[in-house]
Amino acid sequence: CERQDGRPFRQRLLVVANRLPVSAVRRGEDSWSLEMSAGGLVTALLGVKEFEARWIGWAGVNVPDEIGQKALSKALAEKRCIPVFLDEEIVHQYYNGYCNNILWPLFHYLGLPQEDRLATTRSFQSQFAAYKKANQMFADVVNAHYEEGAVVWCHDYHLMYLPECLKKYNSKMKVGWFLHTPFPSSEIHRMLPSRSELLRSVLAADLVGHFVSACTRILGLEGTPEGVEDQGRLTRVAAFPIGIDSERFIHALKLPQVQEHIKELKERFAGRKVMLGVDRLDMIKGIPQKILAFEKFLEDNPSWRDKVVLLQIAVPTRTDVPEYQKLTSQVHEIVGRINGRFGTLTAVPIHHLDRSLDFHALCALYAVTDVALVASLRDGMNLVSYEFVACQEAKKGVLILSEFAGAAQSLGAGAILVNPWNITEVAASIGQALNMPAEEREKRHHHNFKHVTTHTAQEWAETFVSELNDTVVEAQLRTSK
Ligand code: ADP
Ligand code: F6P
Repeated sequence: CERQDGRPFRQRLLVVANRLPVSAVRRGEDSWSLEMSAGGLVTALLGVKEFEARWIGWAGVNVPDEIGQKALSKALAEKRCIPVFLDEEIVHQYYNGYCNNILWPLFHYLGLPQEDRLATTRSFQSQFAAYKKANQMFADVVNAHYEEGAVVWCHDYHLMYLPECLKKYNSKMKVGWFLHTPFPSSEIHRMLPSRSELLRSVLAADLVGHFVSACTRILGLEGTPEGVEDQGRLTRVAAFPIGIDSERFIHALKLPQVQEHIKELKERFAGRKVMLGVDRLDMIKGIPQKILAFEKFLEDNPSWRDKVVLLQIAVPTRTDVPEYQKLTSQVHEIVGRINGRFGTLTAVPIHHLDRSLDFHALCALYAVTDVALVASLRDGMNLVSYEFVACQEAKKGVLILSEFAGAAQSLGAGAILVNPWNITEVAASIGQALNMPAEEREKRHHHNFKHVTTHTAQEWAETFVSELNDTVVEAQLRTSK
């Protein structure tokens, strides 16, 4: 039970999240290849190195046959991952339906899907039943792999029903639950037909990262400075701001292949300032708003038209959900229109890529960027903004950051904060960023870099797990009195 550097691990940890850090692609009856999954949850948890961790989750594919399941389990075991096999119908109802069509937009204050609200309302019950069933399947796998002394750390809105299922199996299991998205105000949460059941289930956990007001207003429970008390049982509730493994980025920038890539990019965009957006192609990321603000900037500042380029790298996500399909077409349409309007025979103002970049390519891109633009309409934290800052020690570029991203709380003093719905304001902030004097850029960057390198993923995980350990011990002391 040792880390690669020989030091002992702190504790055994079972991380349970809907998605595994790798997604599987079938190459044959019993052969699989594994690719990194995209998303903030994976990025943050990959930085957690002090624990002997195993990860339980869905590999992103339907594997109906036993041969395939066995082979995939074996391939995943090498990565310390344990699969939960979800069939197509469950994925459709639980993941595409309840998680991504209902909880996701609601938790980000976007309401229910605009065009098919009635259909969504009709499918609430069947999708919630599938959600509970999927959570139970996760609980079965956790229970089969749990050993006394381990800590079970459940993640995100996909698994709100999991703490209760786990405590039913074993009331002594140490269970924490962390939400990577915003938790909506009780006025929004109360729209959900399953509102109370979801909250009560989360309260079965020992430690929860936020959400007191919904419990007090919807369940009528009393919130205390420590958390929420329900029928004599206290669930500790606290905020645990997430971070990244900043060292991994800083180290990558020194690698010869990344330096080579940086050189190529500098040559490719010589004479132009580089603006960058990196997002999952998601409705919460404000990608259309960001691009429209860039258009407004070009409209208002003709002298910048051939001197700045926007690179928008948007990895497709949740592609079976109609709302996401609509977003993709909308973004393509806007980009095409703006490039038609402001492009020349030799250059276009926007390079939009529907794809994921590998880690080294991403680091190089962050390093050559003059201005990063994060326009989230709501976002739990937004780790892209942290990654950009970590890669900017040489350039000291400017971060334009939505005030609705969690990162606005931590990087607000160094970034230019904007309301992404206000396209005129964002366009003006692009001008401010591009024209910012070096001294001011340096000062702002310094503030943010200090935060990103001290509030890391490692620190986040250690604080959460040690708090969870303390919470369980305290609860045992209380009940033994
Ligand atoms: P979310 O969790 O909603 O996806 P975050 O900004 O917190 O948002 O995290 C996104 C993570 O996914 C980051 O680590 C980022 O590097 C990665 N990512 C997002 N888009 C891309 C992309 N196009 N190519 C490669 N990685 C990406
Ligand atoms: O919290 C953001 C999140 O939902 C994470 O759970 C996940 O890492 C990311 O978005 C990507 O989403 P998905 O797993 O649906 O592709």
